[in-house]
Amino acid sequence: MKIAVYPGSFDPITNGHLDIIKRGAKAFDKVIVAVMVNIDKKGLFHYEERVDLIKKLIKGLENVTVESHSGLLIDLMRDKNATIILKGLRSVADFEYEMQMALINKKLDPKIDTVFMMTNTEYSYISSSAVKQIAKFGGSIEGLVPEEIIPDVISKIKSQ
Ligand code: PNS
Repeated sequence: MKIAVYPGSFDPITNGHLDIIKRGAKAFDKVIVAVMVNIDKKGLFHYEERVDLIKKLIKGLENVTVESHSGLLIDLMRDKNATIILKGLRSVADFEYEMQMALINKKLDPKIDTVFMMTNTEYSYISSSAVKQIAKFGGSIEGLVPEEIIPDVISKIKSQ
């Protein structure tokens, strides 16, 4: 059974992330979306809130689950018997960062492989940081995050 873990900050999940989850669900037997700590980023949503937003969106996807994890990705992989890290790529800049992460994770556990999926061009410009900035200054985030979570994002920003 090919189990893939799709890790990220997901603060919040975007249409680009959801597209990778859906395509990953077709490519692998099981996809575990892992909301992880990125020590370089200051979060907007609490980790469990991010998990709850993702849960709303994966309801119809039988082989997809979501959870949060605060340690090393590689430890979660071992715990779940997963051998594939699934990552989305939007640009060459993404690739440079992701290649280093993939090599570090390979060094930590040589049995693990990172598989990159190119973003659909329609989502290539979307990032969680752009979503937060647009929402903060009252712009429309339609088309950037799934419809179902737009009110959650707006109310979270307003509560800050
Ligand atoms: O969506 P992001 O912020 O690009 O995701 C990065 C993330 C959270 C996947 C990465 O920071 C991560 O794997 N964090 C967990 C700690 C870890 O295992 N780091 C790898 C060795 S440096």
